[in-house]
Amino acid sequence: MDIGIIGYGSMGRMITEKIASSGKATGGIFVSNRSKEKLRDIPSGVTVCENNRDLASRVGASDTKPGIVFLCVRPADLKSVLSEIAPLLSSDSFVVSLNGSITFDMLSKIFSGKTAKVIPSVTAEVDRSQTLVCYNDKVGDEDRQELEKLLCCFGNVIELPENEVGMGSELVSCMPGFIVSIFDVICSSAEKHTSIPDDQVVKMVLQTMCATGELMLQKNMSFEDVVTRVATKGGITEEGTKVVYEEFPDTADLLFKKTLEKRRMTAEKARASFEEDA
Ligand SMILES: NC(=O)c1ccc[n+]([C@@H]2O[C@H](COP(=O)([O-])OP(=O)(O)OC[C@H]3O[C@@H](n4cnc5c(N)ncnc54)[C@H](OP(=O)(O)O)[C@@H]3O)[C@@H](O)[C@H]2O)c1
Repeated sequence: MDIGIIGYGSMGRMITEKIASSGKATGGIFVSNRSKEKLRDIPSGVTVCENNRDLASRVGASDTKPGIVFLCVRPADLKSVLSEIAPLLSSDSFVVSLNGSITFDMLSKIFSGKTAKVIPSVTAEVDRSQTLVCYNDKVGDEDRQELEKLLCCFGNVIELPENEVGMGSELVSCMPGFIVSIFDVICSSAEKHTSIPDDQVVKMVLQTMCATGELMLQKNMSFEDVVTRVATKGGITEEGTKVVYEEFPDTADLLFKKTLEKRRMTAEKARASFEEDA
């Protein structure tokens, strides 16, 4: 099956490089991007298309086995890109949108065939993405397997119902940003109390953070298990974990309140733009 990737930015490039190097593509890999400069440096074996229509006619038009077209553009560009390629796709083409805010309902106003939404995480760069996927009701088992085989090139795949993709995105796609900002604050605070060089503080915390995650995954430990193991009653660690459990919940609640509100507003804006002259 041929694979088309429209938009060669952060996500499009990552998907192209991972799929191309995996050897899992059974057909050709085709890319297009608005600006041509980004397409100068593409993996060998990948074909650069003249434009999106050229890509759609190569990947999506075959009546024998139309391919998968990944839409790796920002939400503001999604409607125009899909409108441009939809007339060239066969009714059996499989369109994959990388955006969580644009619903199947909105996409179906332009392309009414097989559609999936895929949300990778930046951790895909090290093949550790927890990639979210959800399907509209037209996608059958064979296409699911085909897509998930490709997504497995850069990590695990988690299927969610469409109404949970928003919160799911907070947990896997936004989470690297949340995690590093929390540990940035912790490191900055630690640096005020030590003469250990800042870069060494960061390295110590980062290695400990990664190793703690591995420890929990490998030994099947819960957060509580780790806290109990490290924070002995009346000891120094317990003094610190008490502060976190007493003070941090309000910050965490505020974080999700703000991000979910922003997500709701983004979805409303996207809906309005899709409904304009639809
Ligand atoms: N970044 C993440 O961590 C992440 C995670 C999960 C999901 N997503 C979603 O993935 C999508 C892409 O995000 P991104 O971070 O990869 O964005 P990005 O880096 O800005 O890349 C978007 C690309 O789309 C191209 N483009 C725009 N309009 C186009 C058109 N009409 N035809 C062809 N190409 C066009 C842009 O080309 P130019 O070179 O001309 O600008 C750019 O290279 C978004 O919907 C985002 O919400 C992102």
